[in-house]
Amino acid sequence: MDEVDGFVKEGITTDDINKFVHKMTVEAGGIPAPLNYEGFPKSVCTSLNNVVCHGIPDDTVLKSGDILNVDITTILNGYYSDMSRMYMIGNVSDEAKRLVEVTKECMYAGIDAVKPYMPVSVIGNAINEITDREGYSIIRALSGHGVGLEFHNEPVIEHYRTDRKTMIMVPGMVFTVEPMINQGTFDCDVLDDDWTVVTKDGKLSAQWEHTVLVTETGVEIITK
Ligand code: MF3
Ligand code: CO
Ligand code: CO
Repeated sequence: MDEVDGFVKEGITTDDINKFVHKMTVEAGGIPAPLNYEGFPKSVCTSLNNVVCHGIPDDTVLKSGDILNVDITTILNGYYSDMSRMYMIGNVSDEAKRLVEVTKECMYAGIDAVKPYMPVSVIGNAINEITDREGYSIIRALSGHGVGLEFHNEPVIEHYRTDRKTMIMVPGMVFTVEPMINQGTFDCDVLDDDWTVVTKDGKLSAQWEHTVLVTETGVEIITK
């Protein structure tokens, strides 16, 4: 992911990012988990502007003003890790920049809320405090997830507020915190490719993701 930071720029295509991530992953002895996962055709997800997540790399050229999420999942020695970051291409509007930065703040607030023997709902409650203040909405149709020996597992990590009883976090659990935050409403659609999730109102969406470990005293970020 750190290498992707230096690679993403105006003028390259999202498929260039796919090739870059695929090559680096394989050279490091890893397997890019998205490739052929339930039919996903590429090795990384690239989600541009109004795309919420699961964007498929293609010939789209990155241009000034775009915001882009790159989501990398690697399998190494049988274990999965899952992380994503946002990239701002060239000159991005103040509104888009604010969305990207607030979404990062949401991810870290969710991670900071992770405490052993507390319910996972503390994560979404912490994130919802921020979006209430900032006037953004939180995707409800997709969640964070346990990760480790499989790509997606329990517990389900919702990023919005709930007073339902949810699973208790215990030391040793590994899961993702990956809020998807929208400028407009949280409603979304899936395109005909059966993967690309887009905002229904066409407004921007941002996402950041880390894989975390619950410890005896708190939390450790695995994907640092
Ligand atoms: N990395 C995504 C997540 O955070 C899942 C991508 S599934 C894929 O859960 F097939 F689109 F790669
Ligand atoms: Co994930
Ligand atoms: Co991911």
